[in-house]
Amino acid sequence: MNGVTILNLLLLLTVRNHAVRFPEDAAPFDSVDHHYSRQYPVFRGRPAGNESQHRLDFQLMTRIQDTLFIAGRDQVYLVSLRESYRNEITPYRKLTWRSSQADRENCALKGKHRDECHNFIKVLVPRNDDLAFICGTNGFNPMCRYYRLDNLEFDGEEISGLARCPFDAKQTNVALFSDGKLYSATVADFLASDAVIYRSMGDGSALRTIKYDSKWLKEPHFLHAVDYGNYVYFFFREIAAEHNNLGRAVYSRVARICKNDVGGSQRVLEKHWTSFVKARLNCSVPGESFFYFDVLQSITDIIDIDGVPSVVGVFTTQLNSIPGSAVCAFSMPDIERSFNGRFKEQKTPDSVWTPVPEDRLPKPRPGCCAAHGSAESYKSSNEFPDETLQFIKLHPLMDAAVPAIGDEPWFTKTRVRYRLMALAVDNAAGPYGNYTVVFIGSEEGIVHKVLAKTAPFSLNDSVLLEEIDVFNQAKCLSSSEDERRVLSFHLDTHTHTLYVAFSSCVVRIPLSRCERHKNCHKACIASRDPYCGWMPHGACERIPAAVQSGFEQDVEFGDTTRLGDCHGEIIIIIIIIIIIITFSHTHTHTHTHTHTHTPNTHS
Ligand SMILES: *[C@@H]1O[C@H](CO)[C@@H](O)[C@H](O)[C@H]1NC(C)=O
Ligand SMILES: *[C@@H]1O[C@H](CO)[C@@H](O)[C@H](O)[C@H]1NC(C)=O
Repeated sequence: MNGVTILNLLLLLTVRNHAVRFPEDAAPFDSVDHHYSRQYPVFRGRPAGNESQHRLDFQLMTRIQDTLFIAGRDQVYLVSLRESYRNEITPYRKLTWRSSQADRENCALKGKHRDECHNFIKVLVPRNDDLAFICGTNGFNPMCRYYRLDNLEFDGEEISGLARCPFDAKQTNVALFSDGKLYSATVADFLASDAVIYRSMGDGSALRTIKYDSKWLKEPHFLHAVDYGNYVYFFFREIAAEHNNLGRAVYSRVARICKNDVGGSQRVLEKHWTSFVKARLNCSVPGESFFYFDVLQSITDIIDIDGVPSVVGVFTTQLNSIPGSAVCAFSMPDIERSFNGRFKEQKTPDSVWTPVPEDRLPKPRPGCCAAHGSAESYKSSNEFPDETLQFIKLHPLMDAAVPAIGDEPWFTKTRVRYRLMALAVDNAAGPYGNYTVVFIGSEEGIVHKVLAKTAPFSLNDSVLLEEIDVFNQAKCLSSSEDERRVLSFHLDTHTHTLYVAFSSCVVRIPLSRCERHKNCHKACIASRDPYCGWMPHGACERIPAAVQSGFEQDVEFGDTTRLGDCHGEIIIIIIIIIIIITFSHTHTHTHTHTHTHTPNTHS
């Protein structure tokens, strides 16, 4: 959607308010400012040498066993997730992998700035219980290595990072191992024009998407890959080839590949996927005219939402339009329905895209896995008839978009100047594990904590519990506003913590701040925070794991009609005022004091 359509829509909103049920932004129940969040531990890398020259340049964060791997520029830090009771983030180990002098010089010769000629770690995936596979940009010459998980020693040979890791740290990419094979999605050249979903290693020859075919991939940003059942799924956004209006539009996609794909026959699609299909993800606000959030920014693994395997993503409006963000969930059964539906085609280069009639589909059905479903009688994908292979080569796109659960976003934010970028979900929150809490990070360093209403819901049912200003300007030593952007989350329910990554630092916050309601019964219940309960000894506290009784909470309604106001709050406010007055007196005094001494230092 371009800026003009959005303006039209806004006009429509003001003129005919009932036409589109466009959501207002909810005010948070609690706003946690940076003075409060300043107490949370900050990590910005532990350099061996000169601290002021060090930059974390955060790239990715991933959990392997009980360790959180934080990867940046030339370094990977290992933080134990068992020790998060300490009020600091201290890596117990560090892995350093710098580019060689020769690689750095070559990088500079290619015209790149010195700051770009480092080894930015872009892939870090476990291969098995013993080995991690790590790739870095290595000064625009991507390389991969195996490292032993027990001692972090480099194991074996260096392997080319081509089609496994981008050249440029600014490119997004994903990778995972399944059955000993590496699935990677990235750009495979210096100019970032050859976008690829690639499978390599293990037995059999490598497979890829068709090179430079914009029907398959068009300037994609890969965001996530998931191994699930017979398939590997990829979540990304790309330029929409099927978008008919003038101008470029970005759409969000889910793509699917069969794990048993071995490529096509010698005649069609040899060494290419025979099962690559993709569908649009529809995150929009319905009404007379739909309002679309088409730009996927971040998406979860497949998690259970009300017993249904689903993914939850944060989407924004087009990057050149006014900011707006929404959280939408998609169920795997809906994604499968879309892949089992009709394909989309464009008959001539200028015509509109239309669904392919069912009777024109060859058999076995294109996009199927060999030995399954309609392709049951085929042992492997290279035995598929030419018609099936030819069809999938020309028609990777499904006609129907995947609808969001409930056909609406769980949450929207549209009246602010920033976008929401990162997301993490606790799908078993609260003492009974039956609430869904979504954490969403913004471009301006604010973490939104939302109690999601997941089943039957309408747009305003989710509750914005907290807005937490997490970015710590002083400790992150940030120089630019850009660095306030939340890049990634790691949520650890076991230790009740959320790791929030920025370019220059990682901040760890608890999932709740029940202590802010202190000994006010009413505020505690009204908070509707599934992590907090009113305890018999008269305090609002986090409910310990496995405790299911002996506290009071009302997540559904936050009903406090029976409860009186807390006079304690007023007393605290008076105390704070007294402190402020005292402090400003002292401060004025000190100031005068310093001032009178200034001439002396000069004499
Ligand atoms: C660290 O590097 C900065 C910038 O190059 C320099 O100004 C500073 O003196 C160095 N500090 C130490 C302790 O070497
Ligand atoms: C969660 O479980 C508790 C206790 O069984 C119940 O009171 C509450 O209504 C449940 N909430 C939801 C959303 O199912």
